[in-house]
Amino acid sequence: MKQTPIDRTIVDRLVKRLQIENIGNASIREIVALVNLVEKETGIRYCRMEMGVPGLPPAEVGTKAEIEALKSGVAARYPMMEGHPELKAETARFVKLFTDIDVSPEGCIPTVGSMQGTYAALFVSSNADKKKDTVLFIDPGFPVQKQQMMVMGRPYESFDVFDYRGEKLREKLESYLSKGNISCIIYSNPNNPSWICLTEEELQIIGEMSTKYDVTIMEDLAYFAMDFRKNLYTPGQPPFQPTIARYTDNYVLFISSSKIFSYAGQRIGMMVISDALFNRKYENLKTRFQSHAFGHTVVLRVLYALSSGTCHSAQFALAAMFKAANDGKFNFVEEVKEYGEKARIMKKLFTENGFKIVYEKDGDEPIANGFYFTIQYPGMTGEELLANILYYGISAISLKNTGSEREGLRACVSHVGRDQFGDLEKRLKMFSENFG
Ligand SMILES: Cc1ncc(COP(=O)(O)O)c(C=O)c1O
Repeated sequence: MKQTPIDRTIVDRLVKRLQIENIGNASIREIVALVNLVEKETGIRYCRMEMGVPGLPPAEVGTKAEIEALKSGVAARYPMMEGHPELKAETARFVKLFTDIDVSPEGCIPTVGSMQGTYAALFVSSNADKKKDTVLFIDPGFPVQKQQMMVMGRPYESFDVFDYRGEKLREKLESYLSKGNISCIIYSNPNNPSWICLTEEELQIIGEMSTKYDVTIMEDLAYFAMDFRKNLYTPGQPPFQPTIARYTDNYVLFISSSKIFSYAGQRIGMMVISDALFNRKYENLKTRFQSHAFGHTVVLRVLYALSSGTCHSAQFALAAMFKAANDGKFNFVEEVKEYGEKARIMKKLFTENGFKIVYEKDGDEPIANGFYFTIQYPGMTGEELLANILYYGISAISLKNTGSEREGLRACVSHVGRDQFGDLEKRLKMFSENFG
């Protein structure tokens, strides 16, 4: 048995103690709990790449505005269900300036994080037409959204996009949509976990399928403008954040404040419903929710029932952050570029030590460096790799958890400090010497 930086017996014992049956299937939170215990017992700091939490301070323009709002007494008042007017207006402006798409402020709705937004939208969409009860995930994807489907008791289908990039995506989508049971398609772009970005060709195909089969597209833009290959911050000027909204008018966009503004703790995001969908009436919504139109059902039936609105002061924060970005005074992309820089260095450390990047291309172009990347080690399943790498003081999650059919791990860069790169390099060298 080769020597490892972390005592194997400690890791194995703690895995048992936490009743983790199969480390390859362990959830993000289980890995977090395990590594917390191992770090405590060994005193050794892990290169922690399991959880997608921002690693930067919150945008100051947001915290300042939120403090002001609290001082003015908004905490005592219920927020309006549809959101604070200024936030709605600044969101519509943000969408126009950074995607070049027109939406009415009416369809811009604050939610308790994008998590609540996807829950509400998926719930309404999968109940809008009796024949279409199923959600289609373009995977790999964010595991909690599948959990949302489980909680709401609605069915879903999914496929790993790895083998269906470019024109191949059309036939694959058609094979699901032609069955007639799909209400909506959901994906994230840039993608958690793989950091692939769908190309304009792929977005156009999805848009065409949306129109052909009358299917709503749920586009999760949690990492808005974070494809650092292009400079996506010049208000009103191209290049713009690519979006499905250019190719169909049957869409909902989700813009989270968690990553782009490092505002995860305040749990606020915006759901942007296209004007056409917001006002569209569905017979089954009337039967199911006593509410006819999509937008009305989302806001006054589902969101009302879930949380009666979104934190009042956080709405002022988000309005201020959008306004500053819109006015050209807050280059939020520059603030988060550090993730891309770290990814570039960390990917190099991995690949120099025998690892391979799993999802590596968008069309002919290498993927961007950003919040996540995916790794495999030749000859090892994802599960084996995760089990082994934990002995080397490195933590991540298995790609299996994300609907990927590839063997490998998702690595998140945000919580590995630059001061840990030396340790990371040493540990990876040792890993490759022991397994190479
Ligand atoms: C793709 C994706 N969607 C949504 C979220 C959650 O967003 P929020 O914090 O706004 O609920 C995340 C967070 O990791 C994510 O990666």
